[in-house]
Amino acid sequence: MASEIAAKISPGHGPGLRVPVHLGVIMDGNGRWAKARGKRRTEGHVQGVQSLRNTVEYCIRYGVQYLTVFSFSSENWTRPPEEVSFIFNLLRRFVASDLHRLMRNNVKIRIVGSRAGLEPPLIRLIDDVEAKTRTNTGLVLVVAFNYGGRAEIAEAARRLAEDAVAGRIDPSSITEASLGRALYTSDIPDPDLIIRTSGEQRLSNFLLWQSAYAELVFVPENWPDFDESSFLRVLEAYSLRERRYGGLGATGS
Ligand code: FPP
Repeated sequence: MASEIAAKISPGHGPGLRVPVHLGVIMDGNGRWAKARGKRRTEGHVQGVQSLRNTVEYCIRYGVQYLTVFSFSSENWTRPPEEVSFIFNLLRRFVASDLHRLMRNNVKIRIVGSRAGLEPPLIRLIDDVEAKTRTNTGLVLVVAFNYGGRAEIAEAARRLAEDAVAGRIDPSSITEASLGRALYTSDIPDPDLIIRTSGEQRLSNFLLWQSAYAELVFVPENWPDFDESSFLRVLEAYSLRERRYGGLGATGS
């Protein structure tokens, strides 16, 4: 099944399967995956990291250029402290165990989100991993960590307001483009496709500004069960969508 669909792949906009330049993923359902197997929620997160590794490989294999994953939202702080610290440790362990392989695969890592509330050693780790991979030219893996879309927009607005008060910019010069440049993702194109696993159908504060014209695909499987067939089915669904950006599209009707 996977290979049948893969045979139809054609990066860009040619006939066959279209591949998004930028794919966003809301990795949901780790807890439910674990519960269904009588395991602890944290085991679901461990499996979730394996799914992330696999998805990085699919993106490289099929030509996705940017992959943004929602790995810890600003709202996730309301979870039990043990689970919060487990997810923080997963980030540290992921960097320790996978940085070599990511370097070998020419992957550039960006970690976006608020640095406020993060411990200094974690901030140093994030800065270090970004610096080490900065000149890589392959897949850009964007990890949204301690990230919230509204907070990101508010932070950008605050920065522009400070610039205006200090006389560095004229308020009337603020545009969608200049606000976009004040976001964490200023150097990353908007996502073409956002997927969410586990059957939930909402954005939950993920890439709110950037997702204005993204196609959304929701899949029933929990994130740890998301495999290459799931990935290719999502690309098939995306390929059938007509992106109109508010215009009339190819048929004009
Ligand atoms: C959603 O499942 C998942 C999360 C909130 C955490 C996702 C984290 C990872 C996959 C690993 C993090 C990876 C790095 C690199 C840090 P859920 O717990 O909300 O599942 P549920 O809705 O079934 O409870």
